[in-house]
Amino acid sequence: MCASEHGHGYESNSGGLAGRPTVEPENRFASAQTATFPTSVRTGTADPVTLSEAQVQENMWIEIIRKMESIYAELATVQSEVEAKSNELSQSKEFADNVIHSMANALVVADPAGTITMVNDAAVQLLGYDEQELVGFPLKALFFEAETAVFYRGSPMWRELVERGYVRDRELVCRAKDGSRMPVSFSGSVMRDAKGEAVGVICVAEDLRESKRLLAEAAAAAEAERAKSAELEAAYRELQNLQTHLVQTEKMTSLGRMAAGIAHEINNPLGGIVIYSHLLLEDMPPDDPKRRNLENIVKEATRCGEIVKGLLGFARPQVAAGQLLDPGRVLMDSLSVLNGQALFHNIEVRTDIEPNLPHVPGDAGQIQQAFMNMIFNAADAMEGKGSLVLKAHADTKNEAVKVSISDTGPGIQPENISRLFEPFFTTKPPGRGLGLGLAITYGIIKQHGGTIDVETEVGRGTTFEVRLLCNVTVP
Ligand SMILES: Nc1ncnc2c1ncn2[C@@H]1O[C@H](COP(=O)(O)OP(=O)(O)OP(=O)(O)O)[C@@H](O)[C@H]1O
Ligand SMILES: [Mg+2]
Repeated sequence: MCASEHGHGYESNSGGLAGRPTVEPENRFASAQTATFPTSVRTGTADPVTLSEAQVQENMWIEIIRKMESIYAELATVQSEVEAKSNELSQSKEFADNVIHSMANALVVADPAGTITMVNDAAVQLLGYDEQELVGFPLKALFFEAETAVFYRGSPMWRELVERGYVRDRELVCRAKDGSRMPVSFSGSVMRDAKGEAVGVICVAEDLRESKRLLAEAAAAAEAERAKSAELEAAYRELQNLQTHLVQTEKMTSLGRMAAGIAHEINNPLGGIVIYSHLLLEDMPPDDPKRRNLENIVKEATRCGEIVKGLLGFARPQVAAGQLLDPGRVLMDSLSVLNGQALFHNIEVRTDIEPNLPHVPGDAGQIQQAFMNMIFNAADAMEGKGSLVLKAHADTKNEAVKVSISDTGPGIQPENISRLFEPFFTTKPPGRGLGLGLAITYGIIKQHGGTIDVETEVGRGTTFEVRLLCNVTVP
């Protein structure tokens, strides 16, 4: 750009100066004749030379013109330097503007009063306002109520901003023009002038929507994966349970077959022993010294007969078919038979029996026998102290009645659980238990088409639960 274009009033290369006073040679002489000048001037030489007034005047003009030319030349240099600097400055500004506007992150500059003075394109895009709307807007208005607290003077974030001069990567939520929530990572710096006075704050906000979305997606995928593996694990556990159940059923079936075989084989000869020893006893005089031995034979043979009966009860209990029973009532009857015993005196008994329970097909006497075995076991396990809870409820579809017997006894060791229903399994000392109670109970419930389960926790107690079906044919 040349200086004349700027209208600075000079032409730097022409040798002449626009606007300077010009004097034509004829006029110079004409005026020299009339003007009054000193008769001699120093021209820079040692000797004073006498010059005509016209010469003196011309020399003065030449001197003035030279000075002016050198000033103008200097001015022209300064001017071009200024021009270069201003070019440089506008290039830098253009570059800075480009950088600011091409930034992916939103940039908002606010003055010390918190009024927005500048925003970039990313801020406009993020917030949905026009640039003109945002400039002059209060910075706080870009955040939700709860978020603005961090901008209050005295808030931890504000103090940090003032004391450290910046804050970095704070997760905040901006409010867009349409009221939607914009999660951002916020960084702010205090802007200071040359004297160190705060002149505003520069805020940069990174849009976190995409990363939040990806995070949520990853979390959902992980959750789905977890759910799937939990499902698989549950299926695997169910399979394992089924397998254990199958093995248990298989074991109980073969035990039942064996028990039935033995009981059958022993039952007949044992019956003979009992009958013939009774006959001998009847014929024996009361003071016969052998009478005592014979009485012992009868007693032990009768005991054996009870065991055989127990084995048969496990293997093939004799169930009277074609009857209906009220499980709640049978449960209460079972309790009242035992309740009078000394073992029950210090036991707190609670009952929770649903009225009007559906009746189930079965043999009330046999079911009572099964319930009594479990109630007695519970009282025995608690050694006569603790609490016994008896419950009877219909299941949701009224298809079965669930009866449970819970105690606060010592629980059952895990290794014994799978053996509980085996005939002759007992942990009781000889003379206190034969290990037939639960075997018989199992046989009875099975014969009624029902199920029996146990839940136990060592040191906390045990619950036996029997499920009797309403629509079943009892053989
Ligand atoms: N409620 C219970 N709490 C703790 N252990 C129990 C409970 N019920 C049964 N048991 C355990 O199960 C074993 C088998 O019980 P089961 O009734 O079959 O035989 P028993 O009680 O030992 O002898 P029997 O009943 O023939 O007199 C018991 O010896 C005991 O170890
Ligand atoms: Mg028992």
